[in-house]
Amino acid sequence: MKLFDVYPLFPIEPVKAQGSWLWTSDGKKYLDLYGGHAVISIGHNHPHWVASLKDQLDKISFYSNSVKNSLQEKLAEKLGQVSGYPDYQLFLCNSGAEANENALKLASFVTGKKKVIAFKKSFHGRTSGAVASTDNPKIVAPFNAGHDIAFLPLNDEPALISTLNHEVAAVIIEGIQGVGGIQLPSDSFLRLLAAKCKEAGALLILDEVQSGYGRTGKFFAHQFSGIKPDLITLAKGMGNGFPVGGVLIAPGIEPWSGMLGTTFGGNYLACVASLAVLEVIEKENLMSHAQSIGDHLIHAIKKISAIQEVRGRGLMIGFDLPQLHTDLRHHLLFRHQIFTGEAKPNVVRLLPSLALLKEEAELFLHSLHLELHP
Ligand SMILES: Cc1ncc(COP(=O)(O)O)c(C=O)c1O
Repeated sequence: MKLFDVYPLFPIEPVKAQGSWLWTSDGKKYLDLYGGHAVISIGHNHPHWVASLKDQLDKISFYSNSVKNSLQEKLAEKLGQVSGYPDYQLFLCNSGAEANENALKLASFVTGKKKVIAFKKSFHGRTSGAVASTDNPKIVAPFNAGHDIAFLPLNDEPALISTLNHEVAAVIIEGIQGVGGIQLPSDSFLRLLAAKCKEAGALLILDEVQSGYGRTGKFFAHQFSGIKPDLITLAKGMGNGFPVGGVLIAPGIEPWSGMLGTTFGGNYLACVASLAVLEVIEKENLMSHAQSIGDHLIHAIKKISAIQEVRGRGLMIGFDLPQLHTDLRHHLLFRHQIFTGEAKPNVVRLLPSLALLKEEAELFLHSLHLELHP
């Protein structure tokens, strides 16, 4: 059997990883400034994360959601405490798309409506409602296209005011748009959005799948604005590479038996991986570390004249490249052995581990200078 060939691949095979470093099958060492699409939060193979998973594997690795699993409660407790949402409820699932799918479904259950507002350049995943609220017609199949979604320009207050009415079930917005090229909703726009959702009786869904888990220096990117969304979706950094996702649900939203469900969500291994991530974030002060290394990187990149614009918060950084340097990412990878990410058409995305060291950031900046101002 052949693999279904949907991923453009680099001819590179990582076989070992530690911290912000990857080693490949041909013996080379790469600096990882991308964390496998923002997934590596506490660093590759963090010893506490590895030990937690190994320890759990020796006990029990899977049963089902029809029996008590106190690890889920322990995770909910810890996540509530570290994120600043102790009074919210947690639904556990397995990926970002699934988290958004469940959030959209919940909003529709709660309001009895189905219209959704999303934003231009958004990305929310590749399943039914998640892909329908993603602003990329190329990946929306006719089967997914039947949803009632209005796409508004980000930060456009008049467009929001004229579209957000009593017919809307939910507004879904990323804490910071990732795939869209590191575009930030302004704090004032988020505050207006939260107020208008309340007025219209629509639920506000904050997709923090990429921007959450401490990456920006706060646990969630939207916390800079002081708003409290009805639903917050998580995945990526949550398990540091172990597949896990979740929805944080505001206190007033009542569950009923069978309302949501999944076979694998909240399994023992996912819970211990997620708990280990939170323990390390706390113990190693990774949120404030991400903020200070991120500030340093943003400041230094802004000084490079060949770079047109730098955007981001903490360790979620994007910068625009002029036409002359559109192969920069390729050169960083093959000449300097540094992984970075991209956003179409010309944005370089940096999404490293929150534990990126200052000297690792310097190594990247040095390579960037060599490429842009040789
Ligand atoms: C903001 C955002 N939401 C949702 C998703 C989908 O997550 P997953 O690939 O885990 O389904 C992504 C993935 O890139 C994302 O960046």
